[in-house]
Amino acid sequence: MFPSGTLRIHDLTPEERTVYASLKPERLPQHVAIIMDGNGRWAGHRSLKRFLGHQQGANAVQLVTETASRIGLPWLTLYAFSLENNLRRPRAEVNFLMRLLKTYLESNLQRMMDNNVRMKYIGRTHELPAEVQEKMRWAEDATARNTGTTLTLALNYGGRSEMVDAFRGLAAEIRSGHLSPDRITEQDIHRHLYTAHMPDPDLLIRTSGEMRISNYLLWQIAYTEIFVTERLWPDFRGIHLLEAIADFQCRERRYGGLGEASGEVDEEAERVKIVAG
Ligand code: FPP
Repeated sequence: MFPSGTLRIHDLTPEERTVYASLKPERLPQHVAIIMDGNGRWAGHRSLKRFLGHQQGANAVQLVTETASRIGLPWLTLYAFSLENNLRRPRAEVNFLMRLLKTYLESNLQRMMDNNVRMKYIGRTHELPAEVQEKMRWAEDATARNTGTTLTLALNYGGRSEMVDAFRGLAAEIRSGHLSPDRITEQDIHRHLYTAHMPDPDLLIRTSGEMRISNYLLWQIAYTEIFVTERLWPDFRGIHLLEAIADFQCRERRYGGLGEASGEVDEEAERVKIVAG
């Protein structure tokens, strides 16, 4: 459940408030992760350069984060720059994304403070340019005492490389004699993930209609509900986050077990067994 002290429903837009009013407060997700896709297409549809799509995408990041903070969402994790983006996109685009990230952090720090947002990062961030890392640390330190939404940006992130890093950490623990290989548990693996300090996502949103996971939070989304929208990321707003949460609340989460509506099925199976026997 959200910490009610941090709710700022009065700051939602009237349209957002209408959707929020339809939500069940006891079934709000703790952690929403988003694959932000479609910046390039958004720009292409307007005959603009891809860079402008990324710029509008950064604007959407701020607006969605602020809505998340108003409804008291504890964890919001955004896929902002993948390892694959870093390796496979033209250098000019990668450099632009790095500059955009720096500018984004500089110009939105006050808004993060006003919205009580704490900033964190996951990924091989030590491989990013030094001046970007410096700005990231600056924003993380400045927001460290905020108690509202934790906004985690996945930067130079890949799900498989996160697992490689986790397994290396486990191997080091084994070498040091603190863990026996035949006693490794799921919790031990979890402890070594970048996300060890947060709950697994309840809801994963992907924009721009692609039905892919794209190497995002592979371990963590084992039982996450997935919501895919055709909307391109630069057009995504807080109201769309609330609509995705409304859809999430209609799902039945079963974690491999039987759902609430399974009682009749059980009785039917029992009868069939008796008749057959
Ligand atoms: C996908 O668009 C988006 C990304 C490369 C990552 C997300 C980046 C942003 C939202 C902008 C910067 C973010 C911050 C936090 C400053 P795409 O280029 O793959 O779009 P396309 O598939 O339509 O080409």
